[in-house]
Amino acid sequence: MDAAIFNTQPVSADGPIADYLSDLHFRISRLGGGNVASYIPELAKADPNLCGIAIATTDGKIYAVGDADHAFTIQSVSKPFVYGYALARYGRETVLQRVGVEPTGEAFNSIVLDDKHNRPFNPMVNAGAIAVAETIRGKSDDERVANMLDLFSRLAGRQLDIDEAVFRSERDTGHRNRAIAYMMLNTGMIRRPPEEILDIYFRQCAVKVTCVDLAVMGATLANKGINPLTGQRALPEEYIPDILTVMNSCGMYNYAGQWSYEVGIPAKSGVAGSIMAAIPGQIGIAVFSPPIDEHGNSVRGVAACREIAHDFGLHVF
Ligand code: DON
Repeated sequence: MDAAIFNTQPVSADGPIADYLSDLHFRISRLGGGNVASYIPELAKADPNLCGIAIATTDGKIYAVGDADHAFTIQSVSKPFVYGYALARYGRETVLQRVGVEPTGEAFNSIVLDDKHNRPFNPMVNAGAIAVAETIRGKSDDERVANMLDLFSRLAGRQLDIDEAVFRSERDTGHRNRAIAYMMLNTGMIRRPPEEILDIYFRQCAVKVTCVDLAVMGATLANKGINPLTGQRALPEEYIPDILTVMNSCGMYNYAGQWSYEVGIPAKSGVAGSIMAAIPGQIGIAVFSPPIDEHGNSVRGVAACREIAHDFGLHVF
């Protein structure tokens, strides 16, 4: 399949990287295994055959192939960015009082807090992300949504919005996240009404992106917080190492150890089937393909990242 061309962002369709991606896509898109997420009913409608790959460089080039312009919901790939937002707003010490930086070794939606501090283990699992979502500024739901969308739009370099059907589907069925939020209200890790915080958390997870958007967002992390397409700062440079470190140790959940061993690049997955990775000073990588494995990571996404890391020698160690 040929590298795709987009109207919104400048995509390079020629050259060795585009050829490499076309080749990789041909093989990866034929891999089987995994299932489309169904615990959020709206996500179960996704076409399991979709497969897109995109790379964005810190000097503003984009390479994309397959279904890289197909829109899907960002889900947990939103978590590192809202963590960065929280750090920018409140600083490390305050944020650390509400969320730790330890991997859980457990599922992303586990109902667990650390014994010592009664705190969520890290901002990449649902508990930590819900605690962090409380930091989004705004006096009303509308103001908070506007501020959250402003963050993601800066990161992607274009105006993003919310998939209302996916948002409502998760809001109506996300009782496990409600249990987590109430548990944290009980331990003082969140202070405002859980439904108010869950509203912004579910909306943040339902932000619509494409593979190209996620690659640009990854490249923004790789570029010390400045979007390489727009030149706009999305996150302060000071906190980029915090974000990347936690992505490295916790971004792939209870697969994080093996991921770090085999692939060796900071990454974050989402249950709609995307993976975003960032290599500081170099590139952002995004893969989207809906079937996910038992950890909640896209099967084709893991395979594609493993190959890219190997073929370009990107393992950081
Ligand atoms: O809270 C949830 O369960 C979803 N909105 C996000 C979970 C997710 O993406 C886990 N990732 N693999």
